Amino acid sequence: MRVILDCDPGIDDTYAIIFLTAAAHAGLIELDCVTTTSGNVPADQCAQNAGWILGLCGLPIIPLAAGLPAPLEVELTTTPETHGATGLGYAEAPARHVEHDWDTLWIDSIERGTDDLHLIVTGPLTNLAAFAHAHPEHFAKLRHITVMGGAVHYPGNTTPSAEWNFWVDPHAAADVFAMTPTPITLCSLGVTERMLLTPAALAELVEKLGGSPLAEYLEDITRFYFEFHDEVGEGYQAQIHDLLTALIALDLVDAAVEETTVDVEADSELMRGTSVADLRGIWEREPNVRLVTGADVDAAWERFAWACGVHAKVAAGDAEIAELRHQRADD
Ligand code: BDR
Ligand code: CA
Repeated sequence: MRVILDCDPGIDDTYAIIFLTAAAHAGLIELDCVTTTSGNVPADQCAQNAGWILGLCGLPIIPLAAGLPAPLEVELTTTPETHGATGLGYAEAPARHVEHDWDTLWIDSIERGTDDLHLIVTGPLTNLAAFAHAHPEHFAKLRHITVMGGAVHYPGNTTPSAEWNFWVDPHAAADVFAMTPTPITLCSLGVTERMLLTPAALAELVEKLGGSPLAEYLEDITRFYFEFHDEVGEGYQAQIHDLLTALIALDLVDAAVEETTVDVEADSELMRGTSVADLRGIWEREPNVRLVTGADVDAAWERFAWACGVHAKVAAGDAEIAELRHQRADD
């Protein structure tokens, strides 16, 4: 399986990168590229963050590019109060040169074949919508798309009815669901909010990271997110939405799924970014979504603990990991 990750790191996006790089080290996936979208912080900052995390994860060579600087029609809003001034809580990525040929990376990947290619989007849908408009023939070839976004018949986390990723770029979200020829797997807030991390569980994960350079920074990155969730009344813990989304995309946790049709309100101020699923088929439209309605979050955390162990082995130059990499290079 090959993966494109389009993300806005972002603290929970960082957890998705940590998992996907472990999966790449272990030969479960090939990580074709990482691109960034403007959301939690601007896309260029997200690319700096992603590049730093990829390096800490031992995969600085993964092709990386920043996506579009702003949503399709509305002004960019970022959320430093949720993810910290530069998006990684109390940690800060070193400055780096940022590439911008994100759509070339996607096209190259798509041209290698799409039967086994999974696009995972854990930020606003700006890049994906722009890609659908600019490269419709390539967009149409994408057969496996998984998105974190939306609060489907569930309270929003940005307005009473809207989730952050859809609210930031509501026109992009509306366009993607209107244009996709293949149902998109949608991991919305009602499910991803259950992927809860506590300080005690984090301490165990850091322990599992062993000598990985990530171990030095993960607590600093995550503590800010604990504090944010505490301030908004969720308790001193954190919802790691984007990690669960990546695991569901890779089919590594059991999930309940319902095919339905989703639309997103883009133009009204009150309902901006609100997603609606036509669960009764009233619109009589083709399904455009595989709506995830439940997931085994305990299994998901077990998978992540495994990923931390992989990073420890990578850092230790473990022979087993070297062998897995070697096998992958030969395939
Ligand atoms: C989503 O919003 C962002 O802040 C997170 O990274 C996640 O993708 C949750 O609503
Ligand atoms: Ca995100």
